[in-house]
Amino acid sequence: MTVAKIVYASSTGNTEGISEILEDTFNEMDVEVERLEADEADDETFEDADICVIATYSTGDGERPFDFEDFYEELTDLDLAGKVFGVVGSGDSKLYPDHSFFAALSFDEAFEKTGATRGHEVVKIENDADDADEEILKEFVKALVDAKA
Ligand SMILES: Cc1cc2nc3c(=O)[nH]c(=O)nc-3n(C[C@H](O)[C@H](O)[C@H](O)COP(=O)(O)O)c2cc1C
Repeated sequence: MTVAKIVYASSTGNTEGISEILEDTFNEMDVEVERLEADEADDETFEDADICVIATYSTGDGERPFDFEDFYEELTDLDLAGKVFGVVGSGDSKLYPDHSFFAALSFDEAFEKTGATRGHEVVKIENDADDADEEILKEFVKALVDAKA
């Protein structure tokens, strides 16, 4: 059975909601899925996963969430060849036009260095996910599952 892991960070709940939509969609597709907060993840988290997903907001003026800093450093050193990855970002491109979705884009670059295969381009959600975003997130999950098949 295909195993997916979603690691997320959320300060005000928007990214947590996104991570729940992702989890529900993996479940609907009969993929075994585990969802963890960033501070629960470590360098072994993705070891037994076929599909690796990061969902993160951006903060500061182009910063990753503090909770993700350790995991980000560890990720860049991992060998995830043979696995599929995807990144979802929540951000605000109107309020932070110069740094929009910085954290998600930095994770996408970090994953590239691990040798994993990108199953979908970075999905950018403006703040919380609306109905249209939910459809995009479902397509994202399907693309990751298809890429692993
Ligand atoms: C202090 C602060 C700084 C932010 N900085 C950025 C930023 O640099 N880039 C961006 O795209 N969004 C930025 N945002 C927007 C948040 O990433 C966005 O509201 C997101 O939905 C928050 O996710 P959460 O509810 O999961 O915590 C910032 C928000 C706050 C409050």
